[in-house]
Amino acid sequence: MDCRVNEAWERSPPLRLLAEQGCIDVLDQTRLPLEHLRVELRSLEACAHAISAMLVRGAPLIGLTAAGGLAVALSAAADDRNLHRAVETLAATRPTAVNLRWALERMAARLRVAPIADRAALAWRLAQDLESAEHRCCERIGEHGAALLHAAALSERARARGRVNVLTHCNAGWLATGAWGTALAPVYRAFREGVPVHVWVDETRPRNQGARLTAWELREAGIPHTLVADNAAGHLMQRAEVDLCIVGSDRTTARGDVCNKIGTYQKALAAADNGVPFYVALPLSTIDWELEDGISGIPIENRHEDEVLLQQGADAGGALHDIRQSPPGTRALNPAFDVTPARLVRSLICEHGVFSATPQALAPLRALAEAGRL
Ligand code: MRU
Repeated sequence: MDCRVNEAWERSPPLRLLAEQGCIDVLDQTRLPLEHLRVELRSLEACAHAISAMLVRGAPLIGLTAAGGLAVALSAAADDRNLHRAVETLAATRPTAVNLRWALERMAARLRVAPIADRAALAWRLAQDLESAEHRCCERIGEHGAALLHAAALSERARARGRVNVLTHCNAGWLATGAWGTALAPVYRAFREGVPVHVWVDETRPRNQGARLTAWELREAGIPHTLVADNAAGHLMQRAEVDLCIVGSDRTTARGDVCNKIGTYQKALAAADNGVPFYVALPLSTIDWELEDGISGIPIENRHEDEVLLQQGADAGGALHDIRQSPPGTRALNPAFDVTPARLVRSLICEHGVFSATPQALAPLRALAEAGRL
């Protein structure tokens, strides 16, 4: 498979499954863009910590790390008790992205019926298969989504401006998936194909995945982009400065409700009010077929209040510091995701094409998802 994204990806892939060494090697995304620190995860606990502390993040990459984590755990002991413990520990790391459960359930179903002596090798093989499959999905998402950017480039507005303006929220690039990305895959693809694309990058408070990660990815790829405060998106849409929005998803329901990084819902509302098409790019592994209503059904992760109260940044010498802006004693609430109802979503871009966010349009994908099980 040729999933080469660009030189930055080749230098620093977000995850490597090192079966022979019995470990996973990850890029610590909490240090980007200031530092490129790689960490070897050699135990179940280290893998679980890497997910919950967000050294790795983004729904597909969390799923891949959990798959690798299971292989790491079984390399130490592959009896039923350890298999159960590993699945439970990894599943408890982050509640919202369904890819985690998806990867663990599929692997565990195969591993439980395998002889104990074969389980570690099988787990590495399954994790590698999953990785290749997810990379291929993202590549296809790029192909299907790029067609939308080609079409947008032909509009009078984009031609007059000389560029297509895409707005994205959070980071749904290769750092979040392993390769290509979901929301950014169409951007990478279209840019390669000559579309004059420019990306408005939402900062994405409180953890600033847009400012830290998306801006870094796009800079490394040479793609024109501009960082904007989260609150600027509605204003840009009113001024006809956004041709389309593309975001990723942590969990999408069978009727097309989309759970993604906190703030996504507000962008979708502003997009609807201004007639801007709002697209969500995701692999089928992000669809939770057991849920219809995302607002009542999807568990929303509440993270520590310090992520809101303290901002991290580098001083002139590059050393990292936490700074506080609110008065001492202020309490904060930190829901990490929100749900955008299907009615606000123009289409879902997945590896099989572009689909309306309706139960009828999505139904055929369920059969494909089931047929694609490991
Ligand atoms: O909290 P994070 O950084 O893991 O959240 C990531 C997102 O919300 C992404 O948009 C989503 O996982 C899609 S990644 C392709």
